[in-house]
Amino acid sequence: MRKVGIGVIGCGMIAHTYLENLAKRFGVIKIVGVADLIEEKAKWASERYGAKIMTNEEIYECPEIEIVVNLTNVWSHYEVTRAALEHGKHVYSEKMIAENFDRAKELYDLAEEKGVMFACAPDTFLGGGYQTCRKLIDDGFIGVPFAVNATIIRSYLPSGPAPALNNVLVDGGTIPYDMGGYYIHALQQMFGPVRRVAGFSKNTPKYWSNPANPKYGEKLDIRSSNIVVTSLEFECGVLGTLTAGDIGVMSMAEIPGIWVYGTEGTLFCPDPNTFGGPVKLLKPGAENFVEMPMTHGYHGDERSFNFGGQQEQDFMIRMWEKSRRGVGVADMAWSIVNERPARISNEMGLHTIEILHGVDVCTETGKVYEMTTRNPRPVALRAGFMGNDCEAVFDDKWDENIDTTPWWCK
Ligand SMILES: NC(=O)c1ccc[n+]([C@@H]2O[C@H](COP(=O)([O-])OP(=O)(O)OC[C@H]3O[C@@H](n4cnc5c(N)ncnc54)[C@H](O)[C@@H]3O)[C@@H](O)[C@H]2O)c1
Repeated sequence: MRKVGIGVIGCGMIAHTYLENLAKRFGVIKIVGVADLIEEKAKWASERYGAKIMTNEEIYECPEIEIVVNLTNVWSHYEVTRAALEHGKHVYSEKMIAENFDRAKELYDLAEEKGVMFACAPDTFLGGGYQTCRKLIDDGFIGVPFAVNATIIRSYLPSGPAPALNNVLVDGGTIPYDMGGYYIHALQQMFGPVRRVAGFSKNTPKYWSNPANPKYGEKLDIRSSNIVVTSLEFECGVLGTLTAGDIGVMSMAEIPGIWVYGTEGTLFCPDPNTFGGPVKLLKPGAENFVEMPMTHGYHGDERSFNFGGQQEQDFMIRMWEKSRRGVGVADMAWSIVNERPARISNEMGLHTIEILHGVDVCTETGKVYEMTTRNPRPVALRAGFMGNDCEAVFDDKWDENIDTTPWWCK
């Protein structure tokens, strides 16, 4: 079997689940090298997964490495991705694609110029949960979909005792960006490209919250919008809303998700920060939602939003053992082997960040924002592969001009 060599840059928290899945579930992948600014982290990954410790530069230069997997922090994404693209490597990057739309567009243009693939996470929409939702919608279970609501509210405060660089303090790291990507990728895979955006965004002041922190009480220097409320007009005719904010409280008992409304049913789609369910369907005349069986594999039964305290251990188990992060890299590797496009296209991450950029432009101008980028719906995975280890589902091929336009707008 042809193997595709990968080099992983950034061996922090999320690297655990990537490496675990890529090493154990996908025969198409060979982890050639690992790199991190912090030596022990690269050493841990090297010892556990039998990959060579390398510098970033060695990864870019290594002929055996075809894909660079960028798992660094958001503030390093641009620099690492740019260097890898300049060396002619395909890149799979964790979200966000870059700190802002302009820098993301620069990277996209470079990838196009070099003729390489540049995919951006999240890949959760390739999991069983969202592939099942896509299948139910495409098979007409809710009739013609006409509206969708997505909400993500989660407090993001740097709460440790030491002043540390934190996602919220850098561009592209507040909740609309850091978590919004899960929702926008899930929406793109169900409904395709967004034509216009109309909404409001704001930057609400937040303060260092831990009395043990020397900065306690000081205002946080947050640069990206941290509250976004927007309407989305999809090309397929569906109208949607996205609400995202990094203040407030989200109950651990409630499941965050996406609600899709159709002429013949309502679909509750699961937390898009997970690969599994539940997927629930309400039909006319029924009193209750019915939980639908999964039609696809790669559904860890993780619920990834239980943080802190006694639940920390559970969270780690969910994130590392149950999560299926890495399927997007595997799909990219199979796309190289089978000479087909990758399901996460070069346009997907760019389209996502443009939506959030568009809301800021609307807020400034008071006008509706017309999208300049376009990402057709990704090709769905074949149904019926129910095990979590059925790699053959990615061993497929199609014409790059395949039409993925939904049936209801043909
Ligand atoms: N932690 C999560 O729950 C989670 C979930 C999904 C996605 N992500 C995304 O994954 C990415 C990484 O997050 P994380 O939680 O693993 O962070 P982390 O801080 O635990 O790990 C990032 C690692 O990258 C290394 N690094 C940073 N810049 C580098 C550079 N220029 N060269 C080499 N190494 C570099 C750091 O030393 C660190 O070890 C982020 O984009 C984040 O949004 C995180």
